Amino acid sequence: MEIHISTAQYDEAAAWLRGRSRHAPKVGLILGSGLSGLAALIADADEFPYAEIPHFPLSTVAGHAGRLVIGELAGVTVCAMQGRFHFYEGYSMQQVTLPIRVMKRLGIETLIVTNAAGGLNPEFQVGDLMLVEDHINLVGMTGVHPLIGPNLDEFGPRFPATNRVYTPWLRTLAMQAAADVGLPLQRGVYIQLSGPTFESPAEVRMLRGFGADAVGMSTTAETTVAHHAGMQVLGISTITNRAVSVLDSTEQPSHEEVIEAGAALIPRLTTLLLQLLQRLATHLK
Ligand code: HPA
Repeated sequence: MEIHISTAQYDEAAAWLRGRSRHAPKVGLILGSGLSGLAALIADADEFPYAEIPHFPLSTVAGHAGRLVIGELAGVTVCAMQGRFHFYEGYSMQQVTLPIRVMKRLGIETLIVTNAAGGLNPEFQVGDLMLVEDHINLVGMTGVHPLIGPNLDEFGPRFPATNRVYTPWLRTLAMQAAADVGLPLQRGVYIQLSGPTFESPAEVRMLRGFGADAVGMSTTAETTVAHHAGMQVLGISTITNRAVSVLDSTEQPSHEEVIEAGAALIPRLTTLLLQLLQRLATHLK
């Protein structure tokens, strides 16, 4: 189900936001599952429910509260997505990634993406933060790709390279920020599945064989579209549970576990993000 969204539509959404916000955001921030509380730290916030923004997808899920929060965080003007659109909710990949292109048209050139993920790497513990060095867009590789359809040349090329999606200097900056505040930071490869099922043990073993360290149901579509548009991208996964690879294990991932672990992680993720933004602020001036 590809839904074509035109440049004019992205521009209308961006113009609508520009006309209503007191801020000109420089950095986009996607707050993943369980992490949306971080938006409360944004000062002088202008808040825009997705349902009010032109061309934003209508929520198909009861109780799905999502909004853009634009304001100041650690010396940077950010546009945060409090809640994102997931493919498993029934949105097309074009809808899932619509906010990224709207951010681009708002003048945002840097995107920080967070997510909740299952740890595939046996060395990872619940509560770890992982810098995304690279990704496997498994859903995209099966043909469910946000860039399928007419290419919008105003955003980027028909056949974009994806070997440098996660901007090298931003990864260095994140490692420096983690060191500044004494936080361990894992590094690895994130793989995106469609969900909503958690993985079977055989699937977990397969994903490990692919070379993935963390698995989740978001991110790679968004970061691919951001990179296509020439944006700089940083990804941070929060390891909220361990993927279960053993047949008949009674250990069982659940959404409750993901949300609970996400809540426990928030102070550390917040510390890292604030330090990172502070460092980033000096580059944006
Ligand atoms: N699998 C897929 N998505 C997830 C997981 C997981 O184990 N944890 C959080 N999001």
